[in-house]
Amino acid sequence: MNIDLKNKVCLVTGGNRGIGRAVVKTLVDSGGVVAFDFREREKPARELAEEITAAGGRAQAFQADITDEFRVKRMVEEIHDELGPIEVLVNNAGVNRDHSFAKMTKEEWDEVIAVNLTGTFNVTKAVLPNFIEAGWGRIINISSIVGQRGNFGQANYAASKAGLIGMTKALALELAGKGITVNAIAPGFIDTDMTAGIPEAVTEKIKATIPMRRYGSTDEVAPAVVFLASEQASYITGHVMSVNGGLYL
Ligand code: NAI
Repeated sequence: MNIDLKNKVCLVTGGNRGIGRAVVKTLVDSGGVVAFDFREREKPARELAEEITAAGGRAQAFQADITDEFRVKRMVEEIHDELGPIEVLVNNAGVNRDHSFAKMTKEEWDEVIAVNLTGTFNVTKAVLPNFIEAGWGRIINISSIVGQRGNFGQANYAASKAGLIGMTKALALELAGKGITVNAIAPGFIDTDMTAGIPEAVTEKIKATIPMRRYGSTDEVAPAVVFLASEQASYITGHVMSVNGGLYL
């Protein structure tokens, strides 16, 4: 099977590092034209776009904090003007602010919900009219195993990621008749900056619980996103795809 995204314009939020960065590169390798969003680290974002362009691909970086709905709307207009209407949306940007619930502050709760859940609402809301007009679209939300089974010290993050699964299923139903599919990916523990902060001793304990006995790599998540973005995935909607080494079945 050959996946060819045929110059489809894709938007990946939080695309300058980690899982988002791998998704950007894999979408480009599969024939997509990729806009990716960064919040504050401009230099690596510009360098990624230049690296892709130098290798013959098409990618462009755009600045936006996804919690700012007006800036998000503007960014979507900029992408439309420079690359064309967006056809594939990957809601990847996310944060964690971990504490046991007893110690969790209201600020930590609010920030995680604002980025992971309301940020996803903002971007989806801004992009959806294009999809409906075109009668075609792909939305892929990066949830988490933590949204499926919970995790100690992550009540805010778990709520946001479970919320994304609910949003995915509701939107899938609303958009199924309009040529638009909406799916989620639930990665397990993946080697990125987000997991780099976990102390070594805890990391070893976590790995011992994973049937594959290792963290996944970003390159093991990105192909799942590309498949769900492809024409070949046209009959899959409302699905939550686990990429977790067998940790939660
Ligand atoms: P990361 O911390 O390396 O990357 C997160 C990206 O989101 C960064 O590019 C960051 O700038 C961006 N971002 C954060 N807040 C933003 C905002 N307000 N506006 C725009 N961009 C913003 O994390 P990683 O690991 O690459 O995570 C990517 C996604 O995958 C996240 O949604 C995360 O929750 C999810 N995930 C990660 C797992 C892991 O083990 N690394 C496991 C399961 C899910």
